[in-house]
Amino acid sequence: MKKKLMAMALAACMALSLAACGGSGSGDTAADAGNKDAAGDAAAVETVKDGVLTVATSPDFAPYEFYALDENGNPTLAGFDMALAQYIADYMGLELEVVTVDFDGVLMELQTKSVDLGMAGLSPDPSRENAMDFSDIYYRGGQSFVTVQDHADDYKTLEDANKAGISVGAQTGSIQLDLANQYSADTDIVSLPKVTDIISELLAGKLDAAYIETAVAISYQKNYPELAIVLDVPYEVEGSAIGVSKGNESLLKAVNEAIAAALEDGSLENFVAEANELASGEKYEGLLDEEGKVQE
Ligand code: ARG
Repeated sequence: MKKKLMAMALAACMALSLAACGGSGSGDTAADAGNKDAAGDAAAVETVKDGVLTVATSPDFAPYEFYALDENGNPTLAGFDMALAQYIADYMGLELEVVTVDFDGVLMELQTKSVDLGMAGLSPDPSRENAMDFSDIYYRGGQSFVTVQDHADDYKTLEDANKAGISVGAQTGSIQLDLANQYSADTDIVSLPKVTDIISELLAGKLDAAYIETAVAISYQKNYPELAIVLDVPYEVEGSAIGVSKGNESLLKAVNEAIAAALEDGSLENFVAEANELASGEKYEGLLDEEGKVQE
């Protein structure tokens, strides 16, 4: 099995770029190094459904996950979390199945162990440790306070984010909502299920401002230049991790190996670049019905 995994890692390397893989010269790739015992081996990893890696996500979060419109105008799931999910499934020799729910649903699916992984730009916040295990960090980013260009001058310091009377949005269940409670306690805090709802309410003037992950704010700002990213917001938990069904040690180990391989062979960097590129094009921000069709 180890041979098979190495072959797969090598194939992945070759498909992407030989230069990205050959760097160290030691021949000891991340996949190799972590592979001394059984992890990374599909047979050794227990999943909710045999042979399948079930991943929950919340596709309102470009460039992590979103619906890109294909050439026929059909929404298709995209983003670097989704590319990484496929990479991890391939790495483990499993089929990938993605479950789309709102972000608080991702947390719930993990908590109830209905899925194997939650991949949703998830912050490894200690408050979540009862509900899931966390993988290693695979992407680093920060937090921002966002408003519209017309009001950009109203917010010069974090104290201005706490003006009584303003309405401040954050996604339900997210650490951004915690940040809102921490830094904007005197405002009218509005919790919304989707980041895309927050963006449209900001643009419509129904919200004055919002807490949004910086990479995500930058991505939506490309489509909606009226958005203004005005403040950096301190948050001590750095970066995004994968939420792993709690107590599934072999899965956690295999996921970390796959992440290390994707970082080392340059895949992740490519996934991020591709997602950023795609996200700057047309996106679909509504809901899909159970068959994946656009809801009118
Ligand atoms: N990083 C934040 C958190 O973990 C927000 C993640 C939201 N993800 C999403 N796909 N909407 O709370």
